[in-house]
Amino acid sequence: MVYRGPYRVRVEEKDRPRIEHPNDAIVRVTLAAICGSDLHLYHGLMPDTRVGMTFGHEFIGVVEEVGGSVQSLKPGDRVMVPFNISCGSCFYCARGMLANCHNVNPNATAVGGIYGYSHTTGGYDGGQAEFVRVPFADVGPTVIPDWMHDEDAVLLTDATATGYFGAQLGEIRQGDVVVVFGAGPVGLVAAQSAWLMGAGRVIVVDHLDYRLEKARTFAHAETVNFTEHDDVVVHLKRTTDHLGADVAIDAVGAEADGNLRQHVAAAKLKLQGGSAVALNWAIDSVRKGATISVMGAYGPIPNSVKFGDAMNKGLTLRMNQCPVARQWPRLFEHVRNGYLRPRDLVTHRIPLEHIAEGYHIFSSKLDECIKPLVVPNAA
Ligand SMILES: NC(=O)c1ccc[n+]([C@@H]2O[C@H](COP(=O)([O-])OP(=O)(O)OC[C@H]3O[C@@H](n4cnc5c(N)ncnc54)[C@H](O)[C@@H]3O)[C@@H](O)[C@H]2O)c1
Ligand SMILES: [Zn+2]
Ligand SMILES: [Zn+2]
Repeated sequence: MVYRGPYRVRVEEKDRPRIEHPNDAIVRVTLAAICGSDLHLYHGLMPDTRVGMTFGHEFIGVVEEVGGSVQSLKPGDRVMVPFNISCGSCFYCARGMLANCHNVNPNATAVGGIYGYSHTTGGYDGGQAEFVRVPFADVGPTVIPDWMHDEDAVLLTDATATGYFGAQLGEIRQGDVVVVFGAGPVGLVAAQSAWLMGAGRVIVVDHLDYRLEKARTFAHAETVNFTEHDDVVVHLKRTTDHLGADVAIDAVGAEADGNLRQHVAAAKLKLQGGSAVALNWAIDSVRKGATISVMGAYGPIPNSVKFGDAMNKGLTLRMNQCPVARQWPRLFEHVRNGYLRPRDLVTHRIPLEHIAEGYHIFSSKLDECIKPLVVPNAA
């Protein structure tokens, strides 16, 4: 998969990645996915997304080759690779902040390294490909347990880990009312995970009816279609004793719909880094003293966030890119015990050579698409 410019991707033959450092591995990809985050790149909204870059930060595969110092993997191992690239030993990695590694991204002081996610996150080529170079092979990847289904494994490398992390950062207490903005894969898993953490009510907000239907069947949530209300904030207040929810999770990010002026200013005129409509709805609709967990991605350019209201309401805002590998021990148990079934989110399985069509379907939300997987030829 190669990026050619906004809304243009295609398949090209590239040189096969090589071991560049003794702790690298080369992984033959068997299954990848397209993430909502890839759409920000696809739409040309992420700074320094260079033509020729290969996207893909959600993938599993088989180890093809390892560098001289790799100890935990060997050729032939089936591995899942977290979307974060982390060194495992810097100040941040040592504190479990695997998404904020200080050694893997020369271009930023905020985020660490992410596969296939522009030079803002290190310029690494990603896994929507037949082969990918995996740096720090002893740190990130894990051998997939025999009992685990491939489609569960691939979604544990991002969407499932992130949705669960979103609920965790919400600091949900027994009986809490949790509102999740966005019924994409991340929001759906966040809603499902909220129950595991003791929520008393879970409400999912979106405008795509087929995704809200999934929120009811997959995550057993109440749903709100924001286009059916003049003011979705007022509606949410009404259904929560006029106080507001205890916890809100933003699983939308900088490309939120729902406010035309913001959308034009952000996506069309590029006057700001994105439209923070969902985040502002979260700030307005929660009760005072609530916690807001932000999983939706925002770029480095400023957005109009209602920060003063958040301050004056005494809100706690928690956010980060998900430190995926840190989530795995508990998530493996939840998948094994059947509390989480990530593969139920998969709606499309697209051959790598048809990836342009896959991006188009997922971006335009056609054909009831929720989660598209990408299947390389060599798989
Ligand atoms: N923090 C992380 O580590 C991390 C990891 C993965 C994804 N993300 C981000 O999470 C977000 C969701 O990812 P996804 O894969 O589920 O994407 P997605 O595009 O499939 O889902 C986004 C959903 O939000 C809905 N939406 C749009 N405007 C809305 C609004 N104003 N209110 C409520 N819903 C609205 C859309 O209709 C869509 O269903 C993206 O911003 C993505 O970049 C972050
Ligand atoms: Zn992602
Ligand atoms: Zn590090």
